[in-house]
Amino acid sequence: MKVTKAVIPAAGLGTRMLPATKTVPKEMLPMVDKPAIQYIVEEAVAAGIEDILIVTNRAKSAMDDYFDYYPELEDRLNASQKDRELAEVRRAADLANIFYVRQKETKGLGHAIWRAKRFVGDEPFAVLLGDDIMRAKTPVIGQLIQASEKYRCAAVGVQQVSTDAISKYSSLKVEPLEGNVFTVSDLVEKPRREEIFSNYAVLGRYVLTPAIFDILENLSPGVGGEIQLTDGLRQLCRQDRMVAVDFEGRRYDTGNVRGFLEATIDFALDHPLTEKWLKAYIKEKAKEF
Ligand code: G1P
Repeated sequence: MKVTKAVIPAAGLGTRMLPATKTVPKEMLPMVDKPAIQYIVEEAVAAGIEDILIVTNRAKSAMDDYFDYYPELEDRLNASQKDRELAEVRRAADLANIFYVRQKETKGLGHAIWRAKRFVGDEPFAVLLGDDIMRAKTPVIGQLIQASEKYRCAAVGVQQVSTDAISKYSSLKVEPLEGNVFTVSDLVEKPRREEIFSNYAVLGRYVLTPAIFDILENLSPGVGGEIQLTDGLRQLCRQDRMVAVDFEGRRYDTGNVRGFLEATIDFALDHPLTEKWLKAYIKEKAKEF
């Protein structure tokens, strides 16, 4: 079945980016000239997604406004012939059909995904975590959709991380299936050393089947007292087939200052408005080190 819906959980408190995120949602922080969330929406759209549900909270209304029209501003840009700016402002509002639901309590990623049950209905759907920004030739979520359609099952996007880093992620028990695709038989969230299955960690991209909702509904809180999506996936991979795709592309954790800066620099080095200037600036600056 074709995947046309995506869910973007964006209800986190942004505590790793304070004080900036005290009043500005972290997803709205600009990377070059677009807010971080737009990169995620564009990745989904490039992979053929038409309908997107963003799971927000009461402090995130700037996101709804961003993907809306703004007639006063557009009239002004039109009158002053700022055509490029006008086109960009309209393009953001026309990217996809965007829907919103609030996660009324901060109860974890699994709980945020469960809020998408009514939106998703009875189809497989994509999940893109708001903090994980990708740079890839083929949209990472598109790579997962391909695998999920081929093997007719849920798919998670993975890469190998260091043994020291894996305790920040999830660790997967996998068997090679074909090329960069593996069969998943178990997962653990934020593993302690003795719990590590492998250095393959899920990095922010999933294609899930609606069977996940019944599982999430009955799940007890896991690590950190939160309803963990990984605990739900653990049950899902026991009842149905699940594959892991070792995806092509670079992932940035833009939920922290370092990842955010790395992503900003890399995107600025690719951007026609900033590329030339930034290269010269970095060369000049490097002389001081
Ligand atoms: C979440 C997931 C975890 C995943 C990570 C990176 O953790 O729970 O399984 O490995 O994102 O995508 P968080 O970063 O919210 O702690």
